[in-house]
Amino acid sequence: MSLDLFGGRRLKMGIWGLGRGSAFVNSARALGIDIVAGCDFDDIVRNKFHEICPEAVLTDNEEDFFKLDFEAVLVSTFCPNHAQDTIKALKAGKHVLSEVTAFFTPAQGVELVEEVEKRGLVYNLAENYPFTKLNMYLARLYKQGIFGELAYAEFDYVHGGVNPCVTYLDGTPLVPGNRLHHWRGWLNYHYYCTHSLGPIMVISGLRPEKVTAFPEDVFCKGTVHGKGRKVDGIVPNLCAFAPSLIQMSNGSVVRNLMGGSVSDSHQKRFFGTKAAYDGKYLHIGGAERGPRLEIDPQWDEMGQEAEKAGHGGGDFWELYYFARQIVTGEKAPWDIYAASDVTLAGIQALRSALSEGEPMEIPDFRKKEVRDRYRNDNWMAKHIEPEKIFPEDQDTSITNDFAPACKAFVPLVTLVRSALDGMKVYDAVKKENKILVIEKVKELRSRLDEIRKSYSRVRKIADAYPSSQGGEALREKLELGEEARIMDKDALLAELDDFLIHA
Ligand SMILES: NC(=O)c1ccc[n+]([C@@H]2O[C@H](COP(=O)([O-])OP(=O)(O)OC[C@H]3O[C@@H](n4cnc5c(N)ncnc54)[C@H](O)[C@@H]3O)[C@@H](O)[C@H]2O)c1
Repeated sequence: MSLDLFGGRRLKMGIWGLGRGSAFVNSARALGIDIVAGCDFDDIVRNKFHEICPEAVLTDNEEDFFKLDFEAVLVSTFCPNHAQDTIKALKAGKHVLSEVTAFFTPAQGVELVEEVEKRGLVYNLAENYPFTKLNMYLARLYKQGIFGELAYAEFDYVHGGVNPCVTYLDGTPLVPGNRLHHWRGWLNYHYYCTHSLGPIMVISGLRPEKVTAFPEDVFCKGTVHGKGRKVDGIVPNLCAFAPSLIQMSNGSVVRNLMGGSVSDSHQKRFFGTKAAYDGKYLHIGGAERGPRLEIDPQWDEMGQEAEKAGHGGGDFWELYYFARQIVTGEKAPWDIYAASDVTLAGIQALRSALSEGEPMEIPDFRKKEVRDRYRNDNWMAKHIEPEKIFPEDQDTSITNDFAPACKAFVPLVTLVRSALDGMKVYDAVKKENKILVIEKVKELRSRLDEIRKSYSRVRKIADAYPSSQGGEALREKLELGEEARIMDKDALLAELDDFLIHA
C-alpha cells in the first residue's frame, strides 16, 4: 500500500544505474512514486532489476532512457561519474537525486553547482546515513538545544573485507573476472567520506571548513594495491583507513573516519556543550556527574514504512525529502551546496594526506568568487587501474577466474584465521564465546578438503602471474590464510583434534 503524501500527485521516476538503484524500488512504492524507467548497460544488473520492478521500461543506453516520460531521476551510476551524469540528466530536464558522492574533482563540482543554479530543477544528494532512527533522534535533540553547541564529534564508516572489489553489489562475481570493480577497486576511502561526516553535518547544521589528514601507509592483507605512496605514489583503494580531522564552522572539531579494515566500525560519539552521546549512553546534566541514560529512540511519523527500507530507514527518508521538494518546494537537507561541502571534505582530506598533513580549506561553493579559484582544479590522486591487475598478455582462461575464485576463497580464509586464532586465544575468551571458537574449529575440520581445493585454485592464478598486482594480492592472502599449514592436511587434522579433545 502506498502513502498518499502529496494529495494524490504521483511522481514518475527513472533510475540510472540499477545496482544500488534497485534498493529504492520498495521505498518508491511505499511513497507512491512510480519507477517507470531504468537504465544500465550491464545485462546482468538490468535483468536482476527487471525481476523486482517489471513495470519499468528498461534500456541499456542513456539516450533512449532520457527520451522516456519521467520527471525525476536517481543517478546511481559509477561513483566518480556522478557530476557528469547528473549534468546530463539536468540538461534532459530531470530533477536529480544523486547517489554519493556529488563529484570527483573540484572543477567538476563548480560545473555541477552552476548547472544546478542555471536549470532551477531540484538537486539532492542521496546521503542517507543522517536519516537512521538514531541519527534523526540526535538531530531532534540538537534542534531542541539539549546538546547546546557541538564541541567535538567522531563518527566512523569502516568496513571489513575485500569482497566488494571483486563482485557486483549483490555478491555476484564480476564478469569478466580478471579485474577489480570499476571504482571500488581503486577509489581511496577519503573520497567516500559522506556516510560518517554527513550525519554530523545534518545533526548540527554546521558546515565543514578546514581539514587535515595524515597519509595511511598500511593496507589490509591480501587486497590489491600499489607499492605505497612513498614508492609509486599510488594511494590505496578501499583497503586502508582514511581518518581526517575537520574544523566545523562554529570552531568545533570532528574526527571523520572511513576505512577498509578487518572489522566493521560504525562508532558515533557526539559531544555538545550541554550534553553528549557516547555511542550507547546519553549524558545529560550539563556537567560530568550528570545521569547516563541508555536510549531507545522511536520514529516520528511514517516510521513503519521507513523501517522497511534499506540502511536503517535512510533510503526511505532521502527519497521522501526529494519527492517532497519537487511537489511542495519544501527544501530537502542535501541541496547542491551541502552536497559540495561534504564531497569536498573528502577530496581535500586526501590532498592534505598527500601533503603530509597540511591543512586544506573546504571551499564554500555557494560563493562565485570561491568557485572561481577551483574552476580549473582537476586534481585527483594517483591510483591503481582496476582493469590492469594482470599483465597485458595474460592468459584469460586463467585470470578470468580471479573474481569467482576470490569470492569463494576470501570467506574461507576468514574461517581459517578465525579457527586458528580462536584456538590461540581460547583460554582467555569468555565462556559463551568458547562455543563459537569450538564451532569454527569444527567447521574448519569438516570443510578442510573444500578449503584446500579453493587454495589450489587461487595458487594457480598467483603462480601464473606472481609479480602482478593481482598475483601479489593472492599470495598475500594465501599467506594470511596459512596456506602451508592448510596443505599439510594430516598435521593440521591432528592439531585440530588435539584442541577439540582438550577444549
Ligand atoms: N548511500 C548508500 O548507502 C550507498 C550504497 C551503495 C552504493 N551507493 C552509491 O551508489 C552508486 C552506485 O553503486 P553500486 O554499488 O550500484 O555501484 P556500481 O558501480 O556497481 O553500479 C553502477 C551501475 O551503473 C551502471 N552504469 C554506469 N554508467 C552507466 C551509463 N552511462 N549508462 C548505463 N549504465 C551505467 C553500471 O553498469 C553499474 O551497474 C555509487 O556511487 C555508490 O557510491 C550508495
